[in-house]
Amino acid sequence: GAVLTAATVTVSLGAAPAVATGRGHGAGHGGSGGTGAPGVGDDYFPAAGNGGYDVLHYGLDIRYEPVSRAFTGVATLSVRATERLSRFNLDLRGFEVRSVTVDGRPARHDRDGQELRISPRYGLARGERFTVVIRYDGTTGRPTDNEGALYGWVSTPDGAFVANEPDGAPTWYPVNDHPTDKASYDFRITVPAGSTAVANGELVDRRTSGGWTTFVWRARDPMASYLSTASVGDYDLRFSRGPRGLPIIDAVDRDLGPDAAAGLDRTKEMIAYFSDLFGRYPFSSYGAIVDDDSDAGYALETQTRPIYSGPPSESTVAHELAHQWYGNSVSPASWQEIWLNEGFASYAEWLWEEHTGGRTAQARFDTNYARPETASLWNPPPGDPGASNLFAGSVYTKGAMTLHALRKKIGDRAFFALLRTWYSGNRNDTASTADFVRLAERTAGRQLDAFFQTWLYTPGKPTSW
Ligand code: ARG
Ligand code: ZN
Repeated sequence: GAVLTAATVTVSLGAAPAVATGRGHGAGHGGSGGTGAPGVGDDYFPAAGNGGYDVLHYGLDIRYEPVSRAFTGVATLSVRATERLSRFNLDLRGFEVRSVTVDGRPARHDRDGQELRISPRYGLARGERFTVVIRYDGTTGRPTDNEGALYGWVSTPDGAFVANEPDGAPTWYPVNDHPTDKASYDFRITVPAGSTAVANGELVDRRTSGGWTTFVWRARDPMASYLSTASVGDYDLRFSRGPRGLPIIDAVDRDLGPDAAAGLDRTKEMIAYFSDLFGRYPFSSYGAIVDDDSDAGYALETQTRPIYSGPPSESTVAHELAHQWYGNSVSPASWQEIWLNEGFASYAEWLWEEHTGGRTAQARFDTNYARPETASLWNPPPGDPGASNLFAGSVYTKGAMTLHALRKKIGDRAFFALLRTWYSGNRNDTASTADFVRLAERTAGRQLDAFFQTWLYTPGKPTSW
């Protein structure tokens, strides 16, 4: 979807009903199929994602030169049409699109805001699989999200810090940019010899010739686009093994001192602890990227390989690891459901701290609960924070408190069973708060609507629940 306000969308629907009929049932050129909606219908990000198809795999071939910031990309997408299509959209911001082919034939294309509109030579049947190749290039910058935070492909003096949450993936590749369309990924990233490129999954090849090094990374588990990364820097790569032989690959900026990775020291114990608590670790590898050259000022749970904008604390490492279950494997069905990510990962920090002899989860709940009604942690309500407050403190802290209050209400046995089945029943998929409430009620054998209404949707400090 284009970067349009809801009001603009309404106007264009009125002006051109044959083209923009919501979920892609428009007439299209010559009546050979629909045009695919310009968004998936996310209330917070109406332009995010597109209708009419499902991307199965992204092959991203990128060449990047950090000094000039020159970026050249070839994106090869394996796609399945979910309706008859004469045209479809991808999300891409900036860059010059040099060519687009569909199944090897040149396809007409144009741009409208963040929409790259592609009209294949022949219409696509519902259920048909096809391959789209997009060649594009440009100079990268330092994009910011709707809250002003650096995100997407953030150029740094020695490379790039790449963190897309929530809708930053189109700053570096053409994408169906919504968690409801997960895919596997292959990355071939070519950088000047001496630089290191790190993406999700495992390193499958690395070769240098003519002053350039190509790193090939493979992420075979389904992944939401906001969790993809292809960060570049002067990193040391460290390979080791975690529980059950899990490959661990860490990339730490070489200019950071030896203590920079101290927060990562207990990662393997954390994987073992959370695997016992939540269920088996979801993915084929793990690790960290520590890159302090961006000024982004936050960490992101990029799949299999969280990225940190500075040396992380142990608690932040626990947080990003917990997201691999809650957020990455079980992803939000829409961006309104962000507390399912942040409340869970924050509560996991509390559990880890208690497990390692620090404050108890109860003590942390009590400390927070003692804060006055005027404190910022009570608002906005975590279940509907608004598109410009996705990462408000309340989403994290009141979200974590919601889980602790639920635990007290239904008991440890039901609560920890619920955490496990929430993961096992929704892994590699998306889910909503309504799904969580339903599962909680089924697990506890009681009505919980009023409880969740109070904690998630009512502004202010809860007094009874
Ligand atoms: N999900 C990240 C975390 O809690 C925070 C991402 C913040 N992103 C942003 N664009 N401000 O670890
Ligand atoms: Zn988080």
